[in-house]
Amino acid sequence: MLKWFKRNGQAPANQDNTGRRVVIDIQEITKMYLMGDIEVHALRGVDLKIYEGEFLSIMGPSGSGKSTLMNILGALDQPTSGSYFLDGVDVSKLPEKELARIRNKKIGFVFQNFNLLKRTTALRQVELPLIYGGTSNRVKRARAALESVGLGKRLDHLPSELSGGQQQRVAIARALVNEPAMILADEPTGNLDSRSGTEVMQIFQTLNREQNITTVFVTHDPWIARHTNRVIMLRDGKVVADRKVMNPLVAGEVERPSEAEELESVFQEAYYGGDEEEYN
Ligand SMILES: Nc1ncnc2c1ncn2[C@@H]1O[C@H](COP(=O)(O)OP(=O)(O)OP(=O)(O)O)[C@@H](O)[C@H]1O
Ligand SMILES: [Mg+2]
Repeated sequence: MLKWFKRNGQAPANQDNTGRRVVIDIQEITKMYLMGDIEVHALRGVDLKIYEGEFLSIMGPSGSGKSTLMNILGALDQPTSGSYFLDGVDVSKLPEKELARIRNKKIGFVFQNFNLLKRTTALRQVELPLIYGGTSNRVKRARAALESVGLGKRLDHLPSELSGGQQQRVAIARALVNEPAMILADEPTGNLDSRSGTEVMQIFQTLNREQNITTVFVTHDPWIARHTNRVIMLRDGKVVADRKVMNPLVAGEVERPSEAEELESVFQEAYYGGDEEEYN
């Protein structure tokens, strides 16, 4: 399955010296918002390379620029300065029409609040990206995507007739139905209880492992981040840490420590800490 841009048999221009394919390459990205006379510097020079098949989480305090960065990665927003190559293509030079095509075909988006249409059935929600994309076999493909997230028996349900975890799985099916090369998810487990969060994590891990889908996650939750392969930490619009997770957890395999145990480790860190924190 060729997921990225066709290259007429040419060698890809976007391999680094280890032969790995760089799907995202941003350099010196800044983003400034103007609020009246006041400049808000949401990103202050971010460099980041993301390789094919990586499962990356972005962490950092509220306001550190995580969503701003995700919007730029997803070509939903343009940076104020800096360059962005998506699979070797300079995104800043593409016209809006081409950006929309890339968003529709190459990138699957998942949001914290699910972003489902209120009066639309699960099946129809998942069919919509196919309608915009002009694809045939829409019902069949939408049904298959819903079955792959375990919702084969909920096709005709409205969002109000589904649990939070099920709604998020509809959103994942919608993100998947066009067979994207990359999934961008902004706090996808943020509104879920821990059991639904684990189910959603299992789906993302399976997609990443079995289909090699490059996945980028924003999360506040270190436990969720430990299920990914690499963690970057933002602070005040800059990357302050970038670490490989040595032994990522497999969702559902290890039970999350109880709140009391987590609290205990927080207290220990507070007393004995001082070392830089690592999420592995
Ligand atoms: N559209 C906008 N106009 C003006 N300022 C904005 C806009 N979007 C974000 N900001 C500002 O940019 C900074 C980064 O915001 P961003 O939403 O990226 O943070 P975040 O890391 O996603 O935070 P959270 O964890 O709370 O979601 C914040 O100071 C925010 O107030
Ligand atoms: Mg955010």
